[in-house]
Amino acid sequence: MSRTPLIAGNWKMHTTIDEAVTLAEAVAEASQGLSDRQVMIAPPFTALSAVAKAVAASPVLIAGQNVCWEEKGAFTGEVAPSMLKDAGCTMAIIGHSERRHIFGESDAMINKRVLGAQGAGLIPILCIGETLAEREAEKTFTVLEEQTRKGLAEVTITDPAKLVIAYEPVWAIGTGKTASKEQAQEVHAFLRKIITDLYEKNIASQIRILYGGSVNSDNVDALMAQQDVDGALVGGAALKPEAFIRIIRFQ
Ligand code: 13P
Repeated sequence: MSRTPLIAGNWKMHTTIDEAVTLAEAVAEASQGLSDRQVMIAPPFTALSAVAKAVAASPVLIAGQNVCWEEKGAFTGEVAPSMLKDAGCTMAIIGHSERRHIFGESDAMINKRVLGAQGAGLIPILCIGETLAEREAEKTFTVLEEQTRKGLAEVTITDPAKLVIAYEPVWAIGTGKTASKEQAQEVHAFLRKIITDLYEKNIASQIRILYGGSVNSDNVDALMAQQDVDGALVGGAALKPEAFIRIIRFQ
């Protein structure tokens, strides 16, 4: 059983096209020759195709930060799976905490996005995570189970490389307060149990579960050393070339 670690940078609503290309070029250079891990970046939609060109000769993968479930039509403000593929994406982040909490996306909508992405051949990165209030009320596992089961409703998986889950505790995002390695491992092992209930054991054991929330060059090694932490979804530190390159080179 092997899960290739995935280090993913979510650039959120940052970078002009020029800034994105410069940052992507630095990531591409640092990723040359890496065969034991994958590197992914999710620039804003406006920079996707320029970034895809900039990293074309490297192993760096590109993701959209969201994706619609429909292929075309009257869906102002949305981006179709085929449009992401056209711009060079192979993956899409779905259900990020900011989509859920700032833009009110529901589990049902997130599930539609996962199904739409998968149907079009994009790899969905399904994000889940509890708020601080939910953790303090000891609802962490209930919330995560619900988000996982609802997000993956009707989703069939025959190739474990075609689905990624990202655990991002809301209280750890952009706060500098990362989950401890023990907290991350505890949740990841729990999530592994849930997906083992949903999918065949040999598939569930190979699905990658990323941790996100204040990952930086100082804490990445300890997090990545956890048995069920298969990668990182990095926000702020992904915008700083030096920090992100150190994260890619986790030991
Ligand atoms: P930070 O790394 O800035 O906490 O953001 C995490 C995140 O939301 C990645 O998707």
